[in-house]
Amino acid sequence: MADWFDADGRRHRKQFNNSEDAKKHEHREAALAHAVRANRELKLSGATGGKKSARSETVNATNVEIAPAKGKLGVMIPGMGAVATTFVAGVEAIRKGLAKPIGSLTQMGTVRLGKRTDGRSPKIKEFVPLAGLDDLVFTGWDIFEDNMYEAASNAGVLDQRLLDQLKPFLSSVTPRAAVFDHNYVKKIDGPNVKKGKTKMDLAEQLRDDIRDFKKTSGASRLITMWCGSTESYIEAGEAHQSVKSFEKALRSNDEMIAPSMVYAYASLMEGVPFANGAPNLTVDLPVMLELSRQNEAPVCGKDFKTGQTLMKTILAPGFKARMLGLNGWFSTNILGNRDGEVLDDPGSFKTKEESKLSVLEHILQPELYPELYGDMYHKVRINYYPPRGDNKEGWDNIDIFGWLGYPMQIKVDFLCRDSILAAPIVLDLVLLMDLAKRCSELKGLGIQEWLSFYFKSPMTVPGLYPEHDLFIQLMKLKNTLRHLKGEELITHLGLEYYD
Ligand SMILES: NC(=O)c1ccc[n+]([C@@H]2O[C@H](COP(=O)([O-])OP(=O)(O)OC[C@H]3O[C@@H](n4cnc5c(N)ncnc54)[C@H](O)[C@@H]3O)[C@@H](O)[C@H]2O)c1
Repeated sequence: MADWFDADGRRHRKQFNNSEDAKKHEHREAALAHAVRANRELKLSGATGGKKSARSETVNATNVEIAPAKGKLGVMIPGMGAVATTFVAGVEAIRKGLAKPIGSLTQMGTVRLGKRTDGRSPKIKEFVPLAGLDDLVFTGWDIFEDNMYEAASNAGVLDQRLLDQLKPFLSSVTPRAAVFDHNYVKKIDGPNVKKGKTKMDLAEQLRDDIRDFKKTSGASRLITMWCGSTESYIEAGEAHQSVKSFEKALRSNDEMIAPSMVYAYASLMEGVPFANGAPNLTVDLPVMLELSRQNEAPVCGKDFKTGQTLMKTILAPGFKARMLGLNGWFSTNILGNRDGEVLDDPGSFKTKEESKLSVLEHILQPELYPELYGDMYHKVRINYYPPRGDNKEGWDNIDIFGWLGYPMQIKVDFLCRDSILAAPIVLDLVLLMDLAKRCSELKGLGIQEWLSFYFKSPMTVPGLYPEHDLFIQLMKLKNTLRHLKGEELITHLGLEYYD
């Protein structure tokens, strides 16, 4: 499927028999659109003496309307563990001026506009209307009764002295009773769990929670962000094919419906966007896409791109760019937090493994480069090792080959902090999903593919392969923002500088 925007910002899609033809077509059309726009700009600057035409705040040249980010934005988090607490505590620390939002593209990143010679590179948060950090309010669900302060202290990611400075705020965020079933997360169990005869009853209780939070917090808009444990591996089946079959399955307690899907259903029914930080299917199902489009509640996922996979999607595009071959990539981790314990169960690990393995295949495209990548061996291991807590160590042994087939090796030893890498992703997703919900062009699309940048297994419409290359993902994200604001897309063609 080729997918491109023309010079007027209209989106086009065309089906091709193979991905190579689709890509070629997409590149050709994008370059053409760029050339047309460059030509128009040139004419316009001649006519206006170089001044830009005035643009309305809400409706721009591409007719995209973006409602202002007025009022509070309520963030609802199923799973108040290491990632969720590091995110919420971090936001509060930043609001109090105690720390900086390092790692957050929305807070620190810029977007270049126009030509390289124009010198226009505003901060993303000043370019598009995002909610401010002061407007965020929080709630969550968990099977344990700890409030955010206690949960953050248990997670052991952030310094206790910092947490103590944030104690009154963090203690005020207490978990609502969870929708949970031990069969989907074998390694944990807890007391703070909802009761109901059917899964539909549980979904109704979640919908009540959502309405209650909206009312009590005074939020004008809401977002759900799944930071719960990784559930056992499930493949999409009959129950997931339509809203009708899913609701029937909810009423009959079908085992194909995992708890995360109940949260997703409740959110989307309430018109609330849903982002999935774990590798579970959750919203990557026909029923959820149907609901998402129907209720204009954007969805995205799956599995935050942190640690080892982040490194993979940085290194692998480099090997491919230089046409270096790959014989094998062996990745292993030691991890001692609760996530590590959950992933020690083969069911949950299988879900994670699927997510981690797909990355290389898609970036390196062995079908296009059989001599370089046709025979690569890719293995991923996660070992639960309590002494390390959240401070994971990930080793990669990469066997590459170069000119005339001569072998070389690269070793990566990444001593990373998982939740420190994940928290800014959560912040960006909250703000950008809220933007999508306020944006006329994005809110009814369902999957927000432009947010692939943040995920190990980006969601796409069925039949379209996901883009895993971090740099292409970043370009896609920034071009989407440019497009929303009626700015010229940047293709890096650059021929106009040499006219
Ligand atoms: N930390 C990272 O860098 C990273 C990266 C990618 C993905 N993830 C995923 O994000 C998720 C959260 O990671 P974490 O490190 O915070 O894990 P964690 O174990 O610290 O927290 C998960 C929390 O979810 C709760 N939970 C489980 N099932 C629930 C349910 N049905 N309803 C409500 N709460 C539920 C658990 O009790 C726990 O408190 C995991 O699925 C993990 O695989 C994390």
